[in-house]
Amino acid sequence: MKVSLAGLTKSGVKADLFVAGYFKGEKDLKALKKIDSAFAKAAEAAIAKKRFEGKTGEVFSSYQTGYRQAPEMLLLGLGEEKELKAVSLRKSVGTLIGLANGRKARKVRVLLDSFLSAAVPAEETAKIFTEISFLAAYRFTQYKTKKKDDPPKAPEDVELVTEKKELVSSLRSTVGRSEKIARAVLFARDLNNEPGNVMNPPRLASEAKKLAAEKKLECKVLGFAELKKMGMNGILAVNQGSMTPPVLIIMEYGKEYQAQGTICLVGKGVTFDTGGISIKPSKGMEEMKYDKSGAIAVITAMGLVADLKLPLHIVGLAPSVENNVAADPQRPGDIIKMYNGKTVEVMNTDAEGRLILADALSYCAEFKPIAIIDAATLTGMCHHTFGDKTCGILGTDQKLIDAVQKAGEKVGERCWQLPLWEEYGECIKSHHSDLQNTGDGYAGTITATMFLKEFVPEKTPWVHLDIAGTAWCTANRFDCPKGANGFGVRLLAEVLSNWSSENISKK
Ligand code: BES
Ligand code: MN
Ligand code: ZN
Repeated sequence: MKVSLAGLTKSGVKADLFVAGYFKGEKDLKALKKIDSAFAKAAEAAIAKKRFEGKTGEVFSSYQTGYRQAPEMLLLGLGEEKELKAVSLRKSVGTLIGLANGRKARKVRVLLDSFLSAAVPAEETAKIFTEISFLAAYRFTQYKTKKKDDPPKAPEDVELVTEKKELVSSLRSTVGRSEKIARAVLFARDLNNEPGNVMNPPRLASEAKKLAAEKKLECKVLGFAELKKMGMNGILAVNQGSMTPPVLIIMEYGKEYQAQGTICLVGKGVTFDTGGISIKPSKGMEEMKYDKSGAIAVITAMGLVADLKLPLHIVGLAPSVENNVAADPQRPGDIIKMYNGKTVEVMNTDAEGRLILADALSYCAEFKPIAIIDAATLTGMCHHTFGDKTCGILGTDQKLIDAVQKAGEKVGERCWQLPLWEEYGECIKSHHSDLQNTGDGYAGTITATMFLKEFVPEKTPWVHLDIAGTAWCTANRFDCPKGANGFGVRLLAEVLSNWSSENISKK
């Protein structure tokens, strides 16, 4: 697919479909009239007769137009202009790609100006069009062997046109930047939709290395022997039940900016979570291939920050294991000594994410970071609390929490804060060791995060994102088919793109 931006011209390459947006109650189709008066007149007649009102998602289209550059013209209803927000515009663009799909339109021309509103200005509109065009057209077809099973083809070419000649060059760069972000999200989806028998920890590491080579990043992979020597026993214990070795992937970008401080990103990379000996029920267990979403978001974000050439020093860490029941799996009751020296009693082998993250978080101390952000499909409880629409956010620095939450609001990856009050720490204290890896069954998202907190280097601003609910679409969504959706990539890119020293509290 290609998304491009151009000034509106009378001539131009032929498209299959011309699309303009229409706000409810809009009287004057002036811009459209200039392009084709026949279509504008037909539309006005339909509007006058209330056959087309411009409700969100409503469509008026015609094949009998005077426009020579496309056989069909279409007006897409956008609802009331004053109610349009980025959230609803994203949905409308998703609808548009669906309409183009259904018509087998390969090249679509869009009058960008007709989608602009007070709340969503030109640059934001161009960004949304670009991102959602790519995201909505995404399909994972790797394993379909028969052509007839292929889903309808998405448009190959979305051309945004504007009458505002003075905006062309800046909007063109917005489109270019948004394409980089969108392609990164698709990359993350592709990796994440790969099943557990393919995308195991060594394979994930080789994908990270390949990406690093492409984007000119540093990438180091610690294997079994090194992890053992270093005492990363959380990672090792979880992986004990797997025949495949664990890895700790470490990617680094922007060393030349180190003087301004280092930011660490950490992501949970459980390539499959059976639950271990505390095995999960079989219903829905196939979805546990997306337990690597956090790691993939981090790996992808590392490639993206290099692509965007951000002026920051960033280290991405992705501990990756398979939580399985073969080999010599850990048992409930096992006590392990973690990388930072604390001891943990494993009450439940299904609470494995926190064990591998604990080691990776303590290892961050090596980089003396000014901030740590981790992303993990950590708790089913978070999924229950927020559904698939909101990501849980918790942390030790309110400024950092606010900055991440604001970024999420901006890109449509919403986060909502839960408290980390001391009292919640009581129930992860253990009888025979320092800590235990589960709480008392209540407030599971909070107690899991309290556990992580024990391993975060002292006085380091830290934010944890629980993406258990948000990283996966259980059904087709306007911008993503059922499956992995790449949650976190846009959020991390947004936080890092607008990074400022104001994002963390002064010590
Ligand atoms: N990977 C799961 C969390 C999860 C659940 C992610 C559903 C996505 C959808 C995690 O490893 C897990 O199993 N957590 C347990 C913790 C419990 C044993 C304390 C949970 O949430 O049930
Ligand atoms: Mn688990
Ligand atoms: Zn898990």
